[in-house]
Amino acid sequence: MRVILLGAPGAGKGTQAQFICQRFGIPQISTGDMLRAAVKAGTELGLQVKEVMDSGGLVSDDLIIGLINERITHGDCANGFLFDGFPRTIPQAEALVEAGIDIDHVLEIAVDDEEIVGRISGRRVHPGSGRVYHLEHNPPRETGKDDVTGEALIQREDDQEETVRKRLQVYHTQTQPLVQFYRGLSEAKGTPKCSRVEGVGTVEEITSRVLAALS
Ligand code: AP5
Ligand code: ZN
Repeated sequence: MRVILLGAPGAGKGTQAQFICQRFGIPQISTGDMLRAAVKAGTELGLQVKEVMDSGGLVSDDLIIGLINERITHGDCANGFLFDGFPRTIPQAEALVEAGIDIDHVLEIAVDDEEIVGRISGRRVHPGSGRVYHLEHNPPRETGKDDVTGEALIQREDDQEETVRKRLQVYHTQTQPLVQFYRGLSEAKGTPKCSRVEGVGTVEEITSRVLAALS
């Protein structure tokens, strides 16, 4: 199964991706996680993208499309994949169409901007795996430590309020039009299936909605 998860920054894409990938046995492909890993490793790609990521802007389409084209050739994508944070612009979505990569399901997680600002300020992540926690809504078992490895959790560079507001603005102008794009594609070709779930509620509630929509 090939799935695209759409949603504003902090909508819960990374949180729900973990459950979807477990259920369907597909890898999570998060362009954000891939870029952050490159920044952390200090690779050429990392040096190129750090500034734009920290400011809440988008990395160039060409770079992202190259990254995805390389990633989906890996053997673990044989049964499909889940895109988390990609595509994010119309040209990125068009690149998938041009490459003949058909998507089965586009799922949008809808959350209001004000809720998002609160969520992101409490977010903590495990940089090695991309596992996501929240100080109140989804705390780790031991304060400040990843449940699986016990390693330290960190706060993302782009999670300051001002940057979050910029990311939300970028989402509304550049990424939200993809909902219409995929509805149009669905009407013309009969695929992908497009669904929208309300993203406010407990993590478990959203997981049931998401899995029900995908089944
Ligand atoms: P990316 O990493 O994709 O960030 P994002 O889209 O801004 O999304 P987030 O990771 O912030 O949020 P999420 O929806 O995954 O929410 P989460 O589950 O963590 O991209 C980062 C940057 O990389 C971009 O700004 C851009 O510069 C660049 N980039 C990446 N992809 C790109 C592309 N394709 N093209 C160009 N540039 C690209 O949840 C958030 C918090 O809420 C957590 O603390 C979580 O525990 C908590 N939470 C989750 N669910 C709930 C709930 N139901 N109730 C309460 N709290 C909850
Ligand atoms: Zn994420």
